[in-house]
Amino acid sequence: MRIALIGSAGQLGSDLLPRLQAAGHDVAPLRHTDIEVTNAANISAVLQPLRPDLVLNSAAYNLVDKAEDEPAAAMSVNAIGPQNLARLCTAQNWRLMHISTDYVFEGGTGAAARPWTELDPASPTGKYALSKWTGEQLVQQECSRSFVVRTCGLYGIAALRGAGKGNFVETMLRLGRDRRQLRVVDDQRCTPTSTADLSEALVKLIATDAFGLYHATNSGSMTWCEFSREIFRRAKMDVEVIPITTAEFGAKAMRPAYSVLDCNKLASVIGGPLADWHDALARYLASRPE
Ligand SMILES: NC(=O)c1ccc[n+]([C@@H]2O[C@H](COP(=O)([O-])OP(=O)(O)OC[C@H]3O[C@@H](n4cnc5c(N)ncnc54)[C@H](OP(=O)(O)O)[C@@H]3O)[C@@H](O)[C@H]2O)c1
Repeated sequence: MRIALIGSAGQLGSDLLPRLQAAGHDVAPLRHTDIEVTNAANISAVLQPLRPDLVLNSAAYNLVDKAEDEPAAAMSVNAIGPQNLARLCTAQNWRLMHISTDYVFEGGTGAAARPWTELDPASPTGKYALSKWTGEQLVQQECSRSFVVRTCGLYGIAALRGAGKGNFVETMLRLGRDRRQLRVVDDQRCTPTSTADLSEALVKLIATDAFGLYHATNSGSMTWCEFSREIFRRAKMDVEVIPITTAEFGAKAMRPAYSVLDCNKLASVIGGPLADWHDALARYLASRPE
């Protein structure tokens, strides 16, 4: 398949590229300097000559707190951009894969919490979440041959060379080198996911015609506090992690209290679930250069 990979220099794009190529696809990697998704004329001029069978959009405005101050910028990249792509893909009869986020869900705390399915109604709260939710709806409305895949807390090796906004694992390793004690949020439950594992699942999904909405994360769930303790344990770093609340941390944008995703639909289509998060983290840490 000929694939136009938008956001190829990002965390996910960087892990997708070699895996798509290894699966035999002819991939055109497109960095931000090659294409501007917010500009309909530009995407048409860039994509038409490539004549892709599939456009894979992993570009996004990911600065969750900054989006509270510049919602129009987030909406432009995360909603108008995907809409532009969806319209062009429909007009050209190309397929589209678009990536979204667990942040479309908000609540569900305590004993009542259960993993969200694709059928559960979204409840985005922050500006980033709202922009991503709008984007996934526009893609589904405008392009029937589309995959929309929600994932969570991505960490990929490309963050080491400055891709995207960095990732939680690298932030913990960096802070842990300088401090013996860290305060980490313990009242948000979700499933941070390796971009290596997600990429392999996406390669399997695009080999199907099972278009639609999917949840795709590693298996299991944790709080950020639990995740950081596991990072330090595996990295053999002696850092005390003190649990704090979301309110104590005081980030500008709201984060979901519970955004664990039920990934059974994806597992049934691609032949099994993504690996357990402990295993994914261990492989990520082992793959980092010293
Ligand atoms: N990161 C997470 O924790 C997370 C969690 C859930 C879902 N997701 C979703 O997963 C997908 C991949 O995330 P990621 O972490 O790989 O993101 P990333 O590392 O930030 O990569 C996104 C790429 O898109 C490019 N880009 C930004 N604006 C663009 C535009 N207007 N036109 C064309 N390219 C543009 C960026 O280039 P520049 O940097 O040069 O602008 C960057 O290379 C996104 O849809 C994201 O919303 C991410």
